[in-house]
Amino acid sequence: MTKTISLLGLQWGDEGKGKVVDHLAKDLDAAIRYQGGHNAGHTLIVDGKKIVFHLLPSAICHDDIHCYIGRGVVVSLDALFEEIEEAQEVIGNIEDRLTISSACSLIQPYHVKLDQLREGSKKLTKIGTTGRGIGTAYEDRVGRRSIRVADLYNENKLKGRLEEALDFYNSIFIHSFNSEEIDLNELFEKNLKQAEKLKPYVGNVIQEVRDLKEADKKILFEGAQGALLDVSLGTYPYVTSSNSSVGGIASGIGISPTNIDFSLGIAKAYTTRVGEGPFPTELFDDMGTYLAEKGGEVGATTGRPRRCGWLDAFLLSHTVQLNGIDGLCITKIDVLDGLETIKICTDYSSDLSKAEILETLTLEGIEPIYTEFKGWEEPTAGKQSFEELNDMAKEFILNIEDLCKVPVIMISTGPKREDTIIREYPL
Ligand code: GDP
Ligand code: IMO
Ligand code: MG
Repeated sequence: MTKTISLLGLQWGDEGKGKVVDHLAKDLDAAIRYQGGHNAGHTLIVDGKKIVFHLLPSAICHDDIHCYIGRGVVVSLDALFEEIEEAQEVIGNIEDRLTISSACSLIQPYHVKLDQLREGSKKLTKIGTTGRGIGTAYEDRVGRRSIRVADLYNENKLKGRLEEALDFYNSIFIHSFNSEEIDLNELFEKNLKQAEKLKPYVGNVIQEVRDLKEADKKILFEGAQGALLDVSLGTYPYVTSSNSSVGGIASGIGISPTNIDFSLGIAKAYTTRVGEGPFPTELFDDMGTYLAEKGGEVGATTGRPRRCGWLDAFLLSHTVQLNGIDGLCITKIDVLDGLETIKICTDYSSDLSKAEILETLTLEGIEPIYTEFKGWEEPTAGKQSFEELNDMAKEFILNIEDLCKVPVIMISTGPKREDTIIREYPL
C-alpha cells in the first residue's frame, strides 16, 4: 500500500503542483519540502480565496498535517516569517505543525544582493532568476561556506561565518559592481533576533521522518520547480540551482531513495516557462497570447508573464522516465476548451540524435514536430469524472498516456480542489 508519495513537476515549473497537493492532503499525515526555496509559488484556492505558498509546504493548509522543511531547502528567514504571518491569518497558528531542519542552509541578504546584481548586469548571462538569492545560497552550500540553521545558536561561530562571508561578498559588491557593502554588526544582530524567533520550529527532520515511517503514516514529498529546471538534469544553464527531480528527495530530506512508494508526476496540458532559456514549443502568435490569458499565466512569485506553448511530449516522456513516474496528473485541460485544433510535440527534427539531444538539453538546432488533434466544444472545466469528458478530450489524454508510456491517473479541470478527475487514486 502507498505510504510515501513523491509529487514532482515534469516541465519548467508551475504545473499546478499546489492545487494537486491540496486535493490529496485530506489523506496525508505529513508533507515535506526538500529542495528549492521561496522561488516557488504554489497556488491554492481555499473557500474561494487564493493562497500562494512559497517556502511552506502547500499541505500546511490542512490543520491535521505536520509539515517539514528538509535540509535540501535554502531558507530565507525574512521570507519564512513573512509567509508564516500571512498564512496564520488564514489558517491559524502553525507553530506545532511546522518543523525546519537544523541542517538547512540560510539565504542571507548578501545572497539576494548578488543574485540581483548579477541578473542586472549587462556583461553576464541573464538566467531570469526570481532574484531571491536561491542560486547564490546554493553556491555557498556546495562551496562549504553556508551558515546553517544550527549555526544561529552558536554566537561565536555565527559571527565568524558572517565575517568570512562578508569579507568575500563585500569585496565583490564594491569592486565588481560598484555597489555598497553590507554591515557585519547589523547583519549579526539581525541573525540573532531571527534565531530566537525561529527556535520553536527547529527540529531533527531525519529522526522525525523515521518515526513517521515507523508509525506507518502517509507522507508526501512535495517538489518545487520542475524536472526541466533541475540543475543537473534540466536545460542548463537556464535552470534553478537545486535537484528538482526525484534525486533531490533522498539528499534533501535524509531518506533512502527506496523509500518512495509512488511517484506522481504533474504536467500541464500545454507548456509554460518563466525566465530565460530554450522552449522549443513556445508560441509567439495569438495562440500563445490566448493560452496565457485563458490560463492566467502570470508568475505566482514574481508576477512576470509566463511564456506559453504547446505540450512537449518529447520532453515529457523523458522527464517521466528520469523520475520513475508511476502515474501522471494532467492539469489545466480546461484551458484548451473551445479550441479548434490542439497540437502536441511528439518528436524533434534535428541533425542530432535523440540521445544527444537528451544528454545536454541545450535544445539548440531543433524543430518541434507536431501531431494535431481535433479540439472540443463541450467544456471539460469543472468535470469530476473521466466518463463525463467529451470524446476528443478523452482521446487527448489517452494519447499522452501512449506518448509517455505511463497512465494518466488524475486530470485537473479547474483551479479549485474539487475540479479534479481521479482515474486511479495514488494514496
Ligand atoms: P505550481 O507552482 O506548480 O503549484 O503552480 P502555480 O500555482 O504556480 O500555477 C498554477 C496556476 O494554475 C495557479 O494559478 C492555479 O490556481 C491554476 N490551476 C491549477 N490547476 C488548474 C486547472 O486544472 N485549471 C485551471 N484553469 N487552473 C488551474
Ligand atoms: P514552482 O515551484 C517556475 C525559474 C526562474 C528562472 C530559474 C532560476 O512555482 O513551480 P532561481 O530564482 O530559482 O535561481 O531562478 O528558475 N523558477 C521557476 N519557474 N516555477 C517555479 O517554481 C520556479 N522557481 C524557479 O523563473 O528561470
Ligand atoms: Mg508556481
